[in-house]
Amino acid sequence: MHGLMARRYYCLRKVIVCVCTPCILLVLLFFYITIVVCLSMNNNATPGIVGKSSSHFIASGTYRNKSFSPFPKTFWELHWQGDAYWNRLQLAIDRNFNPILRPNNNVKRRFQNSKFHESLLWKSFSEVSDLDSKSGEFQKLPQQMQDFVSHMQRRDYPILNQPDGVCGAGAKGEKEPPLLLLAIKSTEFNFKSRQAIRQTWGQVGWIAGGKRNNSEGKESGGYVRRVFLIGKEDPQELGVDTTELLKLESKHYGDILQWDFKDTFFNLTLKDVLFWSWFTQFCNQIQFVFKGDDDVFVNSLNMIAFLQDQLDMPQAHKTLQDFMVGDVIGAALPSRVNKSKYFIPDSFYKGLYPMYAGGGGVLYSGLLVKRLHSISKRVHMFPIDDVYVGMCMYRLNAHPVHHPAFLTFDFPAKEEEAVCSYHRILLVHKRSPVQVVRLWADVKQTQRQCWDVPLRDGNKKKKKTLSATSQ
Ligand SMILES: *[C@@H]1O[C@H](CO)[C@@H](O)[C@H](O)[C@H]1NC(C)=O
Ligand SMILES: *[C@@H]1O[C@H](CO)[C@@H](O)[C@H](O)[C@H]1NC(C)=O
Ligand SMILES: *[C@@H]1O[C@H](CO)[C@@H](O)[C@H](O)[C@H]1NC(C)=O
Ligand SMILES: *[C@@H]1O[C@H](CO)[C@@H](O)[C@H](O)[C@H]1NC(C)=O
Repeated sequence: MHGLMARRYYCLRKVIVCVCTPCILLVLLFFYITIVVCLSMNNNATPGIVGKSSSHFIASGTYRNKSFSPFPKTFWELHWQGDAYWNRLQLAIDRNFNPILRPNNNVKRRFQNSKFHESLLWKSFSEVSDLDSKSGEFQKLPQQMQDFVSHMQRRDYPILNQPDGVCGAGAKGEKEPPLLLLAIKSTEFNFKSRQAIRQTWGQVGWIAGGKRNNSEGKESGGYVRRVFLIGKEDPQELGVDTTELLKLESKHYGDILQWDFKDTFFNLTLKDVLFWSWFTQFCNQIQFVFKGDDDVFVNSLNMIAFLQDQLDMPQAHKTLQDFMVGDVIGAALPSRVNKSKYFIPDSFYKGLYPMYAGGGGVLYSGLLVKRLHSISKRVHMFPIDDVYVGMCMYRLNAHPVHHPAFLTFDFPAKEEEAVCSYHRILLVHKRSPVQVVRLWADVKQTQRQCWDVPLRDGNKKKKKTLSATSQ
C-alpha cells in the first residue's frame, strides 16, 4: 500500500517536473525576450522617435548638444503629423531609412546607392503630387511656391561657364594641396561685388595668414582658390543679355561657375546642391570650403590661421568629417508673414527649422561636402538654402558649430568703432563693394598694430554671466 502511494507520488512528480518546468521556462523566456526587445526598441528610439507613435522614423542625433539651441521636439513630431506638402514628400523618403520598420536593410549600402535615392525622390514626388492634384491642394499654395514646387525635382541643369577643368581660379604654381576654396554666391549683374572681392579678401594663390593661436604665434599661410556660383538672368526682364559678357569674364578670371537656371531667391538652394556635385567631381584635394554671399567682408587672413589651427587639433582627421562652423541659428520658425522674402506658408512646411548656419557665410570641410552631396540625393529641395543645408546636416547626424566671429547680423552696438575690431572677426555682413575695398586696405594697414588681437569670443562672456547669475 505504502509503496504504491509512493510510486504514484513519484510518477506525479515526474509529470509535474516534465510538463511544468518547460512551461515555466518558456514563460520566463517570454518575459526575458519581451524585456530585451523593449529595451532595444527604446535604445533605438531615444535619439529618434519623438511623440506617441513608434512606427515613424525620425532621424537621430538631434539632442546631442543640449547646451546650444536645444532642438525642439515639435519639428519632427509635426513633420510626420503634418499635412504640409514638403513634410509629406520627405516623410515618404525618410520611411525607407527607418531602422525599426526595416531592420534588415543594409542601411550603409542604401546610404551609398545614389540610383536608389534618386528613384526614391521621384517616387515620393509622384505619390504626393498625384494625391494633391486630385484633392486640389497644389492650387492652394501661393504662386511663387507653386513655381518652386513644379521645378523642385529637377537638378540636372547644364553648366554654362566653368573653370577650365580645375577646381576654381588660382591653381597655378601650387606646391601643396589648397587649404581653402572660396565659393561665393553671386549673380550675373553683380560684377562690382565680384571685382571688389577679387582684389581684396578673395585673392587666390599663396596667402600669408594671420597669427596662429596654437603654434606659439607662428605665422600661417595656405593656397586659396576661388569660384563664383551664378545662375541665369532672364534677358527679357531688363532687356539686356549678359551672356557674352559673362563668357568673357569667365575666360579672363577662370572663376565663374554658372548654370542654366533662373537666378531667383527660391532657386538659391540649387547653387548649393549643384556646387556639391561639381566639387565632388573636380575638387579632390581641397581641405576647406568657405561658402558665402557676395555682400560680406571676410577677414581671410584670420580664416587661414583659424583653419590651420583646426588641422592641428588632436583627432582632426575624425572631427573634420563633420566640420561646419558659422553663425548657428537654432529652433527657428518659418516666416509666416506673406510679404517676407522668406515667407513659407504652413501648407508647404510645418514645424520648426533644424539647427543651421545662417546668413552670409559658413565654413566647412571638403570631406563634409562629399557627404552632403550624397545625402542631398534623399532630401527634397527646400526653397531657403541655409535651411536646406541644415536639413542635410541633420540627416548626416552632424551639427554646425557656432562661432561668435561670424557676424551675420553686423557688429553689436559700438563694437565696430573699437581699434582692431575687424581683426577680431572672420566675417561681417553686410558690406558694399566700396566698403569692402576700404576695409581691406584698413586691415592690411593695421596688421602690425593689431597682431596680438584674438578672435571674438562671445561664448566666454555669456558663460561668465550665466554662472554669475546662478550663484
Ligand atoms: C555645445 O554647444 C556649446 C555652446 O555653443 C559649446 O560650448 C559646446 O562645446 C557644444 N558641445 C558639443 C559636444 O558640441
Ligand atoms: C585659442 O587660444 C585660447 C586662449 O589661449 C584658447 O582658449 C582657445 O581654445 C584657442 N582656440 C583654438 C581654436 O585653439
Ligand atoms: C528655378 O529655375 C527654373 C529653371 O530656369 C525656373 O523654371 C523656375 O521658375 C525657377 N524657380 C523659381 C522658384 O524661381
Ligand atoms: C497676405 O495676407 C493678407 C492678410 O492676411 C491677405 O489679405 C492677402 O491676400 C495675402 N496675400 C497673399 C499674396 O497671399
